[in-house]
Amino acid sequence: MKYLLCFLFFFLFFYPSVRCLKEDPDIKRDVTQMITSKGYPCELLTVTTEDDFYLGLHNMPNPGKPPVILWHGIAQNAASWTCNFPGEDLIYFLYDAGFDVYLGNSRGNNYSMSSKLYNPKKDPKDFFNNCYIDYMTKYDLPATVDYILEKTGFEKIAYVGHSQGTIINFAALASNPDYASKINFFAALAPAVFLKHTNSSLIRLVEEFVDNNNIFDLFDLFHTYNLDINNPVLKIVMSYLCKLLPTACDSIFWMVAGYDPKHLNITRNPVYVAHLDSLPLRDMKMLDQWTHTGRFQMFDFGNDQDNYIHYGQNTPPLYQLSNIIPGKAPKMMIFYGGNDLLADPYDVEHYLLPRLNPDLFWEKPIFISDYSHADFLWAQNAKDLIYKKIVNALLQLDFGKRE
Ligand SMILES: *[C@@H]1O[C@H](CO)[C@@H](O)[C@H](O)[C@H]1NC(C)=O
Ligand SMILES: *[C@@H]1O[C@H](CO)[C@@H](O)[C@H](O)[C@H]1NC(C)=O
Ligand SMILES: *[C@@H]1O[C@H](CO)[C@@H](O)[C@H](O)[C@H]1NC(C)=O
Repeated sequence: MKYLLCFLFFFLFFYPSVRCLKEDPDIKRDVTQMITSKGYPCELLTVTTEDDFYLGLHNMPNPGKPPVILWHGIAQNAASWTCNFPGEDLIYFLYDAGFDVYLGNSRGNNYSMSSKLYNPKKDPKDFFNNCYIDYMTKYDLPATVDYILEKTGFEKIAYVGHSQGTIINFAALASNPDYASKINFFAALAPAVFLKHTNSSLIRLVEEFVDNNNIFDLFDLFHTYNLDINNPVLKIVMSYLCKLLPTACDSIFWMVAGYDPKHLNITRNPVYVAHLDSLPLRDMKMLDQWTHTGRFQMFDFGNDQDNYIHYGQNTPPLYQLSNIIPGKAPKMMIFYGGNDLLADPYDVEHYLLPRLNPDLFWEKPIFISDYSHADFLWAQNAKDLIYKKIVNALLQLDFGKRE
């Protein structure tokens, strides 16, 4: 609750004084505009999932070239890949190296906010209770990948994920062999798959919401199933706040992911904040469960009966990383950071890596000792430490063009 009060305090205190500041044009741009304003092509496509959710899919079309898809983390959308400039962001390196670049959007974010069955405004409970890791895994990834392979005529696609974008891909590779056979390469940036040792205040914040039943009941009472970080007024205020008071902005980043300003272009903070997106409560709840159990498992409905209805057993099934078999799954390149509060290096080294067959690795997992969670997206030196390595690997792969 204290975090909410802080938010409110900043909101009330700064709103009157900040309206007159000149703002960065990327704050108001959507993903397509951010890319086209940098001189690159981009269009927004729509993918329909098996359960009839409509997902936005951004594409920097490079016809005839092999496809690569990038998938964002929690409380973000495709804009997480577009917040800096050509010569900095991974997408421009990929495009210039001759790849057809796609940016996925998970259900419930700004670009994937509709479904045939549920209207997020009229039936928020049904809509947002379908927006969590298991369904992104089961529906969003396969639908998006199949759509791209169908469109481009390639047999395989490369995948780059950040944070939750790595979780859902590990989950899909572990549970869906057909999907695994279509991915030829997986670059995992800040893989927050095991959360037993996470120090993220975001997760602690979630605990506060979820473990304190009064607060959770309160959300129910107000029919709130989603934290609308995408709320335009809140975002404008946050952006101005970051511009006016970079230290306050730092502490918000710190809360979420661990923050170390030395790698970031701090004048871009208002842009980064402006493109944060909504947080479905069930998704948060699922991550919260993982911090308690330390397991990579499906959503726990909280009692034997409901679990049985969904899974045919009383406990949530595990995503078994041992099901990811070399030769039948992509080669992997894993990057993790020593200052990452969310994907804590202890969890990566003691839980994730030992569960992966070493033959899956394209090269030994890469530890960047002073990287925090957001640096994988926005650090000024990420191009040298990460992006050029990914591009070099992709240039050596076979994507199997069909005739
Ligand atoms: C949400 O998406 C629409 C286009 O689908 C775009 O016009 C709008 O700017 C986006 N809003 C945010 C906050 O990203
Ligand atoms: C840092 O951000 C500012 C403001 O957006 C921008 O003008 C500048 O070019 C950026 N610097 C680098 C090195 O990208
Ligand atoms: C997380 O907290 C633990 C215990 O306080 C600490 O040992 C560890 O270094 C912290 N991890 C990071 C990445 O700060």
